[in-house]
Amino acid sequence: MMPVEVLLLLILVIVLVVAELVRQSSLRRRKSPPGPFPWPLVGNMKELRELSVKLDGQHKALMELSQRYGSPVISLKLGRTTTIVVNGSEGIQTVLGSEEFDGRPWNFFIKLRNMGKKKGITMNDGPEWKEIRSWFVRSMRSIGFARREMSEFIGEELEQILKNIGKGGVREMKRIIEPAIINVLWTFATGKGFDEDRLQSFMKLMERRAQAFDMTGGLISAYPWIRHIAPEYSGYNLLVTVNNEFRAVLMETIEEHKKNFVPGSEADLIDMFLNEMYAGKGPQAGFDEDQLVIILLDILLAGLNVTSTTLQFLFLNVLINQDSQRRLHEEIDSVIGLDKLPEFSDKSKLPYVEAVILESQRVTPVVPIIGPRRVLRDTKLMDYDIPCESFVIMNLYSMHSDPKLYPEPRSFKPERFLSNGRRIKDDNLIVFGRGHRQCPGIALAKSALFLLFTGVMQRYELLPVPGCEPPSLKVKSGITLSPKPYDVLLVPRTTLASDKDGIDS
Ligand code: HEM
Repeated sequence: MMPVEVLLLLILVIVLVVAELVRQSSLRRRKSPPGPFPWPLVGNMKELRELSVKLDGQHKALMELSQRYGSPVISLKLGRTTTIVVNGSEGIQTVLGSEEFDGRPWNFFIKLRNMGKKKGITMNDGPEWKEIRSWFVRSMRSIGFARREMSEFIGEELEQILKNIGKGGVREMKRIIEPAIINVLWTFATGKGFDEDRLQSFMKLMERRAQAFDMTGGLISAYPWIRHIAPEYSGYNLLVTVNNEFRAVLMETIEEHKKNFVPGSEADLIDMFLNEMYAGKGPQAGFDEDQLVIILLDILLAGLNVTSTTLQFLFLNVLINQDSQRRLHEEIDSVIGLDKLPEFSDKSKLPYVEAVILESQRVTPVVPIIGPRRVLRDTKLMDYDIPCESFVIMNLYSMHSDPKLYPEPRSFKPERFLSNGRRIKDDNLIVFGRGHRQCPGIALAKSALFLLFTGVMQRYELLPVPGCEPPSLKVKSGITLSPKPYDVLLVPRTTLASDKDGIDS
């Protein structure tokens, strides 16, 4: 005889499976995207995790599932949420260009990311998001980003990097790049960079935060109740602690600005926000302190890791592809020479440098999957019915590795972005998103990538460390993809007068 508990469990499973089949059949009437059978309670989370480990990344697993079900648009059940995954150029371009896909979900995981406040830019939507986002874009312009001041400002960080590298030698690229990017973003937001001691502790805080999110690995997102059973293992306790520390740092900076605020002499983003809060639209229009904290959080979370990791991949790609590095040096030497540091206005005269940056972003993406988006009304996507409130993610990797768009997609070939020595426009390369939610930090990010990369390449040759295994492109998967930390041998290309006077002294 079967014990009564087992019998009850069996009945429960049968009821849940039947309920799911009934739901499925009603969905079929609707023409829903295909996908694996969504098991009651567990959904497809386990299957996706296993496939991601096997194929080395969730982006590859999602592409494999799309091929398996013969459709660029597929549907997966992750925890209680049905997620629509969009692969390929046609579907992704449609989502990015349609307003009904502009919402953001507000689930437990995102609430944790946003310190419990539906504010800021990245995880907000509706009229408040539009208002705050357009204020942010306007403020960026008026602080001078995307113009001359931005070049000067990043130029100071470049000089610091060159000073640190000095006569060259073996260095870990991550340690050289990360402080520069933190300083660029922090100066934009607060008017000044970090002093050395605070920089180190801030970097550790950022690292712990990233680890805490990686540790949850989507578990908390799919099964929020797990925090009650395993608060340590699930990463929940760590996340709460690190969030509190992070908020304290941001609040301290805001308080300092409030104390020294002089109307009419706003020099940085915080001052501009305070001006709006005191004299402009005011707290009733969403300009309050919580809003400011989440905007600062957005800048650091959306900007820091992605920009720093993109640069790390760039240097790694030219280290591995020495022919490209040679051609890059030739172009820099003939256009800028060696006597002055690069300026942003040099960018259009350096098509090969631009092509190397684009190819590196294509072949080694930092953000292969973008979103999540929340569907704002019932709609259609490539003939499938997509109900209001669905959760949508886009697999950019599926576009950027499509052999029809990029022959031999795994090879590093900057030439694919050039024709007759000029850079060609490529609508299929979507690194910064597109449409209403396109990255608002794009001008700052592109300037930092160009100036820091070209400045280091102008002065140094990057070689593998003698006697060591050459670095590989094997990635570390987390919320974003990054290279395993690597060392490089930096050899000065020339000893300039200015080097003797300043940089190497
Ligand atoms: C190489 C560097 C960067 C890359 C590749 C990148 C990429 C992206 C992408 C793909 C999106 C769109 C996500 C979507 O469509 O749902 C985005 C959004 C965003 N990015 Fe960037 N980003 C970079 C640097 C930055 C920087 C430096 C900042 C800040 C100054 C920044 C701030 C933001 C914000 C606030 C959003 C959210 C926009 C919204 O939802 O309305 N990003 N970024």
